[in-house]
Amino acid sequence: MQFTIEIGRYNPEGTYAERAVQGECFPPPWDKAPPKHYQTYTVELPEHAVVLDALIAIREYQDESVAVRCACRSAICGSCAMWVNGHAHLACKSKLTEFTKDGKTRVESPPSMPVIRDLVCDMTTFWGKHFKVNPWLDAKKPEPGPMEEYRVPNAAMEELIQEVSCISCGACLMDCESFAVNPDFLGPQALAQAYRYVGDPRDSKTRDRLGEYSGPGGIWDCTHCYECVTQCPKGVDPLEQILKIRRLAVDAGFTNNPGTRHADAFATSVKHSGRLNELTLLPKSVGLFNVFGQLKTLPSAINMIRAGKLPPIIHKSIPGVSRIKAIFDRLGGRFK
Ligand code: SF4
Ligand code: SF4
Ligand code: FES
Repeated sequence: MQFTIEIGRYNPEGTYAERAVQGECFPPPWDKAPPKHYQTYTVELPEHAVVLDALIAIREYQDESVAVRCACRSAICGSCAMWVNGHAHLACKSKLTEFTKDGKTRVESPPSMPVIRDLVCDMTTFWGKHFKVNPWLDAKKPEPGPMEEYRVPNAAMEELIQEVSCISCGACLMDCESFAVNPDFLGPQALAQAYRYVGDPRDSKTRDRLGEYSGPGGIWDCTHCYECVTQCPKGVDPLEQILKIRRLAVDAGFTNNPGTRHADAFATSVKHSGRLNELTLLPKSVGLFNVFGQLKTLPSAINMIRAGKLPPIIHKSIPGVSRIKAIFDRLGGRFK
């Protein structure tokens, strides 16, 4: 079959995009990024071929200047993650027949990462986040003797299988919407790894970890966009792991932060009136006695008023709100 591939080209001497600077990523929003320089190639490949087959064929037989990073070609090493048709995918796992849109497949370096050359992006940021969560066990004492081992129930390790499946490809971070606007956010991969250690019964630093991940740039900065769930090629479901850490952190008493206050304000409002009270959500999230924080929200409030988006001053309950309360009571937990 014949396939048409459009490759986003960049080399340090040439141009990929007007504003592309080596070592820097495109500023979001990415769909407003300046036009890129795409080069079109045609390749003859079998029907079952994947995007990486096409890129290797192009590099080997048509244009040796095309730079692409790959190793295993089996969705194991994680090195071939790139943007395919505007989302992060493993090139070696993306069938050309499925990714051909309007007669072509477009591949490029993800705009959320600095580009080194063509399809090779700089993963320094990704690895920085990975190591920031201390991705190793800090073993509980006493350590087993030389001929002994830690005994862990099977169920405890089964709980971690999903996180252990991560191949560190970075696809989740490449498309994470929170990371796009907040470079300090730890991101989906690092936080999924964080749960791998928080959830391990052999670790001795669980409480320290929970406190650390509850701070700025941590678990509460995820906006639930689900991109990491959709793009992960190994089913790690980073969002689910972030939610697990949130539950553990709240249970451990790490509640004095905007994220927990936001969740509390949200749930309390729904429990009492059956709907969200948007007027009080932001002040409660910031902290009612946090005068400096409240002042910082004033520009947003003024913008909302200007745009005619001011929520109703009088917050009314929905009919039959007692049924909502009954659900909360039955679920129990923090908001009972
Ligand atoms: S769900 Fe959260 S962590 Fe996952 S991509 Fe969206 S903002 Fe990022
Ligand atoms: S969580 Fe999934 S998408 Fe993210 S780095 Fe790991 S394998 Fe890749
Ligand atoms: S080449 Fe290893 S994951 Fe694609």
